[in-house]
Amino acid sequence: MRSYEAAPARRVGGEITVPGDKSISHRSLMLSGIADGVSAVSGFLPSEDCLATMTAMRELGVTIERAGATGVRVQGRGLRGLRAPTHALDMGNAGTAMRLFTGLLAAQAFDSELIGDASLTKRPMERVAKPLREMGAGVRTTGGTPPIHISGGRTLQGIDYRQPVASAQVKSAILLAGLHAATPTTVHSPAPSRDHTERMLESFGVRVVVGGADGTGGPTVTVYPPLRLTARNIEVPGDFSSAAFFIVAALLSADGAGLVIRNVGLNPSRTGLLDILRRMGGDITVEDERASGAEPVGDLYIRASALRGIEVPPALVPLSIDELPVLFIAASCAAGETVVTGAEELRVKESDRIAAMGAGLQILGVEHEIQPDGMRIAGKPQGAAFGGGEVDSCGDHRVAMSFSVASVRAAKPIRIRDVANVSTSFPGFVTLARAVGLELHEL
Ligand code: S3P
Repeated sequence: MRSYEAAPARRVGGEITVPGDKSISHRSLMLSGIADGVSAVSGFLPSEDCLATMTAMRELGVTIERAGATGVRVQGRGLRGLRAPTHALDMGNAGTAMRLFTGLLAAQAFDSELIGDASLTKRPMERVAKPLREMGAGVRTTGGTPPIHISGGRTLQGIDYRQPVASAQVKSAILLAGLHAATPTTVHSPAPSRDHTERMLESFGVRVVVGGADGTGGPTVTVYPPLRLTARNIEVPGDFSSAAFFIVAALLSADGAGLVIRNVGLNPSRTGLLDILRRMGGDITVEDERASGAEPVGDLYIRASALRGIEVPPALVPLSIDELPVLFIAASCAAGETVVTGAEELRVKESDRIAAMGAGLQILGVEHEIQPDGMRIAGKPQGAAFGGGEVDSCGDHRVAMSFSVASVRAAKPIRIRDVANVSTSFPGFVTLARAVGLELHEL
């Protein structure tokens, strides 16, 4: 089993870019695969999760060529052109791939089966299967989890669906199935969640109407079944979720060398962590904000800052859901208490991230209290907030990278177990971490 050793490091600085956005990379292959024409994708994330999507799209008959490290050329097969796979499609560790493919495949003329690794096989899938069945699809989970069996050849009807949790994956699965439905499909959410699917569908020529207040206060989105999607080129911005580890490392750094991260995706449905860290006193500025295709991007300037604990507004939780593990590291170094509530979704990510982060913080001597839906953390603003020791990432990429960042305020080396899954989202993490000053080694 692979491990990291993160020795104490005090200076974090320099100028970097981070690899392409994972959510957008998955969607770029799926939508260009069902478009008419050729789409060129630049800045694609060649991580294990996105490569699982690439392999699956190829097994569905789409011709995809790689062009250099991050370029991809997709020959779309049209809205009704996917072909039956010859065996089960393996999503590996990728929850996004599994849930979005369930929506895409629910509307096809053929049967299919989706499988995944041990972690993915424990994750809840009825949240996507249930609304798809309401549309008329033949989607069956295995006791609520993968494998997922999909019987094709059904005519889907549009639905008006109120999702109980603000999940972008569930929303996206329904919208993808809705592309093939006989009537429009509307998804209501209790709070905003990432909207990459909506933006990309529109850019492929699909009519998508986004609404605000619908009486419940949550956002709504309606997709109108199109005749076709039109191929287009896609520039994938740097992944804000990957930048997050370096944002926190630079804020916690002991000297003010400053870190610049260029060309980071700044979609407001993803940047809740920026709001939270600024409320905590973090010195982060955005320069040269611009549009990159359908998505906003910019350059981030981060300077070492004295953080103070806050009560995180629950409305910011869905907008920072993947960044909460590294927020717990920042909170451990802040003056006073930080409280995160309304984050029960963390329990069903690649690991139970509340339990995994709590266990590691315990070993590293951080005073904290685990709650069913979050955590209270008493920060230590002066000196080393973390002791040393061996923590378990529980096979979760974001837990592994978060504890790597803790080394910036650690008294002794931190050893992190079970780190192989970092390559599901962030190939090259160790090299980039070392380039900005972390003393991180893979063992
Ligand atoms: C994602 C949505 C989020 C997020 C995941 C990626 C997406 O999951 O945690 O890493 O690409 O749509 P939920 O939809 O379950 O909140």
